[in-house]
Amino acid sequence: MKVAVVGSGVMGLGITQAFAQSEGYEVNLCVVSGKGFDHKRALLEKPLKRQVAKEKITQERMDEIMGKITICDISGCKEADLIVESAIENLQAKEKLLKEIEEIAKPDALIASNTSSLSITEISGELTRPIIGMHFFNPAAVMKLVEVIPGMTTTREMVETVKKISEDIGKVPVEVIEGPGFVVNRLLIPLINDAIQIFEEGLASVEGIDTAMKLGANHPMGPLALGDLIGLDVCLAIMEVMYHETLDPKYRPARLLRKMVRAGRLGQKSGKGFYEYNELGRIIPG
Ligand code: 3HC
Repeated sequence: MKVAVVGSGVMGLGITQAFAQSEGYEVNLCVVSGKGFDHKRALLEKPLKRQVAKEKITQERMDEIMGKITICDISGCKEADLIVESAIENLQAKEKLLKEIEEIAKPDALIASNTSSLSITEISGELTRPIIGMHFFNPAAVMKLVEVIPGMTTTREMVETVKKISEDIGKVPVEVIEGPGFVVNRLLIPLINDAIQIFEEGLASVEGIDTAMKLGANHPMGPLALGDLIGLDVCLAIMEVMYHETLDPKYRPARLLRKMVRAGRLGQKSGKGFYEYNELGRIIPG
């Protein structure tokens, strides 16, 4: 099956890897903004090189995975059977991009969005065909869950197809009726937001908060390190959607979250968030 992943940010790269490392999938990674193709190739290779260095995969296997990926512009959607839009979490940007995708996609192509909080019905409002939410989790090549989100016009057949594809690439699909943040982000992003507020109030240090949640709640990583991994700009965008959709003050973004995004301290992707990162994405001990 030919897949096009549109958008080459953190999630787009991970989703590309998730498909390319599965049997029977070839991926066109469609770059719609940002740095050039060589830079994207280097970012795709980074986690694979780490796996080679750890002897988890061979160099041949890495070459095989990379060989199934074509980095291209949006025209890479033309030949795809499945298109996963994975661009910036912004309603207008997604609406515009999905319109472009629909115009060039094959009539029978399945169009999905990896939106992390927006309404599938709303982002597809300008389209003539139905789309579906196919929501991956970071790091997408590793995390098992895919939330499958039907919008108002999504057909049952599309839901079943996306569930089957998810299973085929080793994921576990969970169907979720659309609502701001779906299930995981509705619960997880407010936790990160609260952790930021707790830090702002001076209750504990960054390391203290993360250690507390790792050892006290058995989370694989602390909420501040997780915010850095997801991207603090993405966390802010999700909080804003949940806040505006529900008008519930419990979803109001923390002031410090907003400030960090304004300062360009976005987490791993910018090299600095609550922690500082080296080129391998590892925390530089402070
Ligand atoms: N590709 C391939 N493998 C990868 C990888 C990648 N991009 N990133 C990590 N891995 C692999 C590592 O190679 C390693 O494999 P190994 O055990 O076979 O050697 C394994 O994952 C574990 O990685 P590390 O040893 O580097 O580090 P950890 O053991 O701490 O695990 C983690 C990393 C999987 C990220 C773990 O800390 C974790 O599960 N954290 C929570 C992640 C989470 O909650 N994600 C959801 C975020 S919400 C979201 O994404 C929604 C969106 O809409 C915002």
